[in-house]
Amino acid sequence: MENINTSNKKIHSTQWSIKASLPVNYTVEVIQGLFDPNNNHLYHICKNLKEENSRVIVFVDNNVDAHYGDTIKNYFNKYKIRFVWYPIRGDEEAKNIDSVLTVAKQISDSGLLRRSEKIIVIGGGVVMDVVGFTANLYRRGIPYIRIPTTLMGQVDAGIGVKTGINYMEHKNRLGTYFSPEATLIDPEFLKTVSQRHITNGVSEIIKMALIKDAQLFNLLEQAIDDLTPQGFASYGPVHQEIVERAIDGMLQELEPNLWEDNLERIVDYGHTFSPSLELKSNPPLLHGEAVAVDMALCIALSFSRGLITKRDADRCVRLIQRSSLPIYNSVFTLSMLEKALNDTIKHRDGFQRVPLMSAIGCAIFCNDLTSSDLDYALKYINIFNNLGEGIVSHVHE
Ligand SMILES: NC(=O)c1ccc[n+]([C@@H]2O[C@H](COP(=O)([O-])OP(=O)(O)OC[C@H]3O[C@@H](n4cnc5c(N)ncnc54)[C@H](O)[C@@H]3O)[C@@H](O)[C@H]2O)c1
Ligand SMILES: [Zn+2]
Repeated sequence: MENINTSNKKIHSTQWSIKASLPVNYTVEVIQGLFDPNNNHLYHICKNLKEENSRVIVFVDNNVDAHYGDTIKNYFNKYKIRFVWYPIRGDEEAKNIDSVLTVAKQISDSGLLRRSEKIIVIGGGVVMDVVGFTANLYRRGIPYIRIPTTLMGQVDAGIGVKTGINYMEHKNRLGTYFSPEATLIDPEFLKTVSQRHITNGVSEIIKMALIKDAQLFNLLEQAIDDLTPQGFASYGPVHQEIVERAIDGMLQELEPNLWEDNLERIVDYGHTFSPSLELKSNPPLLHGEAVAVDMALCIALSFSRGLITKRDADRCVRLIQRSSLPIYNSVFTLSMLEKALNDTIKHRDGFQRVPLMSAIGCAIFCNDLTSSDLDYALKYINIFNNLGEGIVSHVHE
């Protein structure tokens, strides 16, 4: 306590300083055949529920329910695990506050015991984000387990601690950091994911290769014709290494910076201009598709600033193109890019902090991108898109 003396009166001031830190403790595991009746792994996780006879409250993506509902219910029945079953919409339009309130009501209706019964969410990034967000709000946080069923979910949305929903015209504008107790990844779910959504997840894997992992880049080039639902579901040696390197690289980046105290994040590669593109493109682009267009532009920026050779730039853009992702979108004009960069500067607290490749598998941060850098990169990509790489050296003329 102290008395502050001003010229003519004393003002009393008392201050307490409270410090605590929140422990984070969860596992991410790949388990093939998670719902195979002979695989008791999930049973053991559910058996660890503290009370005899306690239940799991299952939120399942509608499409996952259609393909796997019976298999999953049979598993719970075989192991005598009591469950409540709630199918929910797994599309981007449903990633809103109404869905959060519906899930909250269902948790409430289920009469969930606060700690000893668990939520299990099975589905893509949308349902994991909605249910994770609700689980964090409900009674200020109840335990939940994630079972991601899309490639994007398995290498990205399902393994970090972020939750979120779209608000007004903004993606993930309302959100929290709330870790699950566990993330259980079964590649077999991927066999029924559409090729477009597999390619969407490949985009985030390419990101990790470009900025962090040259060996992953080589593997992607090798497997380029087999980045398919069947390829990933079969989990042969090459696909296994691709997925596990992507997860490992992502977790190495996330773990020391879980609450994003440091806004220089190399995993934001491809996420500088893409948020604006994702909102404005017509027909709409998926998240990974918008990230791919952004990554191609950033590759051109690296080349124009002398960070990488033309040979490497062409090789990287070609990988994106050969995986059937877009490298260009007509929404990308110079003025749109300038505006998108300004929006990102706000998100990154006043600085550009744009991750750029400095070699295949390495990144640095850039804070001084100019309009002429953007103009050059745009022309490079435009020409590459229309004519192929051979002509790109003429951009300067
Ligand atoms: N929280 C995070 O850190 C984080 C990270 C990346 C992305 N995201 C979010 O994730 C969302 C995208 O997730 P997504 O790419 O998984 O898409 P998604 O959740 O929209 O799923 C894509 C489609 O696949 C269907 N589906 C899911 N699993 C299936 C299966 N096994 N078989 C057949 N169909 C299946 C869904 O019903 C949906 O129609 C975005 O909203 C994005 O913002 C969050
Ligand atoms: Zn992303």
